[in-house]
Amino acid sequence: MSSKIVSGIRPTGNLHLGNYFGALRNFLKLQEENDCYFFIADYHGLTTHPTPENLQENVKQVLAEFVACGLDPDKATLYVQSDVPEAIELYLFFNMNAYLGELQRVTTFKEKARKQPNNVNAGLLTYPTLMAADILIHRASKVPVGKDQEQNLEMTRTFAKRFNHMYQTEYFPEPVAYNFGDELVKVPGLDGSGKMGKSEGFGNAIFLIDDEATIKKKIMKAKTDSGPTEKNSEMPDYIQNLFSLMDIVSETDTITQYKDAFADCSIRYGDMKKQLAADMNEFIAPFRDKIQSIVSNDELLSKIAKQGRDKARESAQRTIKEVRDIIGFKSI
Ligand code: ADP
Ligand code: TRP
Repeated sequence: MSSKIVSGIRPTGNLHLGNYFGALRNFLKLQEENDCYFFIADYHGLTTHPTPENLQENVKQVLAEFVACGLDPDKATLYVQSDVPEAIELYLFFNMNAYLGELQRVTTFKEKARKQPNNVNAGLLTYPTLMAADILIHRASKVPVGKDQEQNLEMTRTFAKRFNHMYQTEYFPEPVAYNFGDELVKVPGLDGSGKMGKSEGFGNAIFLIDDEATIKKKIMKAKTDSGPTEKNSEMPDYIQNLFSLMDIVSETDTITQYKDAFADCSIRYGDMKKQLAADMNEFIAPFRDKIQSIVSNDELLSKIAKQGRDKARESAQRTIKEVRDIIGFKSI
C-alpha cells in the first residue's frame, strides 16, 4: 500500500555518509511506490545559523547532492522548506498547544542550548513543533531519519495526538521514524566521539564531495592505539567505529580478515586505515562525480525546485484548508 513519506535536512553544510545512511538511502526504494517528500530545511537552519552566508548557494548545493544520491524529482517531491509557507501556519497552530516544559526537556534542545548559550532562541525551543509541521503538513506516516531524530519524532506524535484529541478528530496520523529493514542508524564519526556530524569539526565527517586525498587524510588521522596485546580482547570504541565504517564500505572478506587480525593481535592499524580509505574512496567516487556534474547546472536545479515547490504547496494547501475548518476558522 502506498504511504506518505517526509524527510528533511538542514543546508548548514555538505551531505556526509551519516546523512546518506540515516536518511537518504531509505528514500531510494520508498520513492518508487509512495508519495514521497524530501525537503531542504532552510528555516530550521536559522535556529543555529541566524545570518547564513550564501544561503542560496548552500541550498543549491544540497539539492544537487540529493539528486546525486538518487532522489528522483520525477518520482519524489524535492523542495525547499521556505518555498512552502503553509507549513508555518501549521507550526503556529501546534505552538498554541505546545508546552514550555516538554519543549525544554528535548535532548537536542538542551544540547544546542549548551553549545550556543548566547543564542537560546525561541526557534530552537520550538524546533520540534516546526518539524512536526513539516511532517504533518503532508499527513505523512513514515519519516526516514537517523537515530538522533527519534525524540523529535516522538514529539511529532505528541502534537498529532494532541491536535486530534483537542479538536475531536482523527485527522493526523502518528508518524514513525523509519529505517529500511531494521533499526535506526547511527554512523560513527572519525574523531572517536561517536556520531558523524557536519558541525563536529574537520576530520569527523566524510562528505559525499570529498576527494581521494581528503578522504585518506581524514581516515589516516582517526584515533587508534598501539594495538591489542591480549588475544580476543575487547575492542575500544574508536576502533569499533572504524570497523563500523568498514561494515558500510568494505567487502565482507576484508572485514573478517581485519577482525581476525584484531583477535590474534596481529592487526596493523595503519594498513587497516589504508584499506578503509581505499574502500571509502571507491564508495564516495560516484557520488562526488555526480554532484560535480550537476551542481553548476542552475537551469536543471531551479527546474527541480520549482517542480517540487508546486507539488508540495498543493499538498500543503489542502491540509491547511482542512485544518482551518477543523479548528473553526471561517470568513465572516
Ligand atoms: P548533522 O548531524 O550532520 O548536522 P543533520 O542534523 O542535518 O546532520 O541530519 C540530517 C539527517 O541525517 C537526519 O535524518 C539525521 O538523523 C541523519 N544523520 C545525521 N548524522 C547521522 C549519523 N551519523 N548517522 C545516521 N544518521 C545521521
Ligand atoms: N531535524 C532534522 C535534522 O536535523 C531536519 C528536519 C527538519 C527534518 N524537519 C524535518 C527531518 C522533518 C525529518 C522530517 O536532521
